[in-house]
Amino acid sequence: MSLPPGFLDELRSRTSLAQVVGRKVMWDNRKSNQAKGDMWAPCPFHQEKSPSFHVDDRKGFYYCFGCHEKGDALSFVQATENVGFMEAVEILAREAGMTMPSRDPQAQQKADRRGLIAEVTEAAVAWYRMQLRAGSGGAARDYLDGRGLDEAAQERFEIGYAPNARQGAFQALKDKGHAPELIVAAGIASQPDDGGNPYDAFRDRIMFPIRDPRGRCIGFGGRAMDPNARAKYLNSRETELFDKGRALYNHGPAREAAGKGKPLIVAEGYMDVIALDRAGFTASVAPLGTAITESQLQLLWRISDEPVVALDGDRAGLQAALRLIDLALPLLEAGKSLRFCLMPEGQDPDDLIKARGARAMQDLLDSAQPMVNLLWQRETEGRSFDSPERRATLDKSLRSAVARIKDPSLKRHYGQALNDLRFQLFRAPRKGGTWTPSKGRNAPAAPMAQTRASVLAAGAMSDADMRHALILATLCLTPALIDRFERQIEQMAPANPDHARLAGILMATPHRDRDALAEALDRANLTPALETLLNLGHVRIAPWIRTPGDTEKAARCLAEEFAKLAARRGIQNEMTEALEDLDHTDEARLNWRLNHALHARQQADAPKTSDGAAPGEDEGALSRHLRDLIDGKAWVKKTR
Ligand code: UTP
Ligand code: MN
Repeated sequence: MSLPPGFLDELRSRTSLAQVVGRKVMWDNRKSNQAKGDMWAPCPFHQEKSPSFHVDDRKGFYYCFGCHEKGDALSFVQATENVGFMEAVEILAREAGMTMPSRDPQAQQKADRRGLIAEVTEAAVAWYRMQLRAGSGGAARDYLDGRGLDEAAQERFEIGYAPNARQGAFQALKDKGHAPELIVAAGIASQPDDGGNPYDAFRDRIMFPIRDPRGRCIGFGGRAMDPNARAKYLNSRETELFDKGRALYNHGPAREAAGKGKPLIVAEGYMDVIALDRAGFTASVAPLGTAITESQLQLLWRISDEPVVALDGDRAGLQAALRLIDLALPLLEAGKSLRFCLMPEGQDPDDLIKARGARAMQDLLDSAQPMVNLLWQRETEGRSFDSPERRATLDKSLRSAVARIKDPSLKRHYGQALNDLRFQLFRAPRKGGTWTPSKGRNAPAAPMAQTRASVLAAGAMSDADMRHALILATLCLTPALIDRFERQIEQMAPANPDHARLAGILMATPHRDRDALAEALDRANLTPALETLLNLGHVRIAPWIRTPGDTEKAARCLAEEFAKLAARRGIQNEMTEALEDLDHTDEARLNWRLNHALHARQQADAPKTSDGAAPGEDEGALSRHLRDLIDGKAWVKKTR
């Protein structure tokens, strides 16, 4: 289709770029000058916190000073909605109230026919709505009442009722002047094979209209009220308008809400979406009675980089998640991912919200697991890896999962994350002190109810995290040693941000005495972080922490911990390479490398002194001792 001359100019002049972009970004009010059409925001095309994305609303151009992305309203819509040029023109033209020029006759005809079918479905929405209010809708109203769907919810989701009549909807729509052939084409009625009169596709069912993101009603879901009905839910059959695998329930409103910052939630059913919406989670969608398809996943990623999949707390829910992972792996690209949150046993989001409110749902969302964790769980849950053969099998399945990721950088990150989990799994179980995970920003998400017993939940603090904690605590108590270990401290690169900041302060404080350090920590607001370290089980019971002043003992500890970290880094690299080396056919060489690295780590892990943590100490005496120890320190006293 070609556009008439001047059409695009007209479109550009009628479109406000700031308005178009404003749906996808949060303007920085301090930096922006609305009156001048000079707008700034964090860039929607790359990850950043500071606003380097600039919109010149008058000129209609945007430019990012960070990633150099630039363009106009059309390119912006193309990029953010993932549509082609013509579709972007269509979207903006509709918003600007301009009529699109007509297409080639055949496409036009097809569009016309779909338009006619949409008129039928629209008329059906109104008719089902009316039936719900009519006398025959009494039981339906009671049913909705019993499920807690008030008038407002019914209105918002345009819930209706299909009465128990053979030709109720068919006759009514025909009387309104809709062609019988179109009523059948719309999926409202079915044509019997024997050529008799069409009959209603939905009978005695609660009706949920399904709309496409433009707002056209493309089909219906119908729920039986009778628990013994043939099918609990019946969805419109596929029609020229309705392609189940390419549609999402509540697509349009969810997209809009997600644009305003609501997390995109994918639930399993209509009622879940409605309950979520009512509870304030307005960016919720569901597939339409089938497992999530590739197209639906792409639709989700057009709305949000990381949709949260809320699964029913049953086997089927978990199975659905695992299937979804298989679907998603080859499609993953940097910045696009999924999170999963599993409902409590036997509940779906609707049940959960009813039983425990929006807060409980929010808590679950907050603890949603990244996909890599579920992947790991799938490969390890309930299995034991007590022999080299079993470990090798695990490695193989992990490698084949990673191999399915196409994006090279993601592939590497998945390899690393899985290696971390693998490392924790194969680490010899520790005796003695329990590790209390820090409650800081970096605290790991609470485990999902059903995986509590799994390795996934147990790996609260990584081996490296724990070593970093011990090292940092030791150095804070004996700052005189900082200079001696300067090089090692620099190499530490802790993943935990508090640890990283503590290490930074240690390196930056010029005087290696306790008072200067205490002051520096206080200024940097790191006193609570240090306290957290000192309260960790394994730190608390270390002899050189319990009895400060023995600088040489502390130094031996540091030397050993740093050596272990270095060995760990070594094996980490080895294993990462091993997993990354995906079409590696030389298994023998691979195993040799892994064994070699493992051996090196075992050597490093074997205690060289008798100063290891002493398990089974009297905790009471210990904490008293600890209190005596830290009472003299400014940074602890202050918070008492
Ligand atoms: P559920 O059985 O979990 O239903 O099916 P639900 O959403 O919790 O519904 P209520 O709370 O019992 O009313 C989830 C989705 O699977 C599809 C529907 O899309 C439903 O919303 N489904 C289910 C069907 O298509 N047919 C069925 O017979 C059952
Ligand atoms: Mn339900």
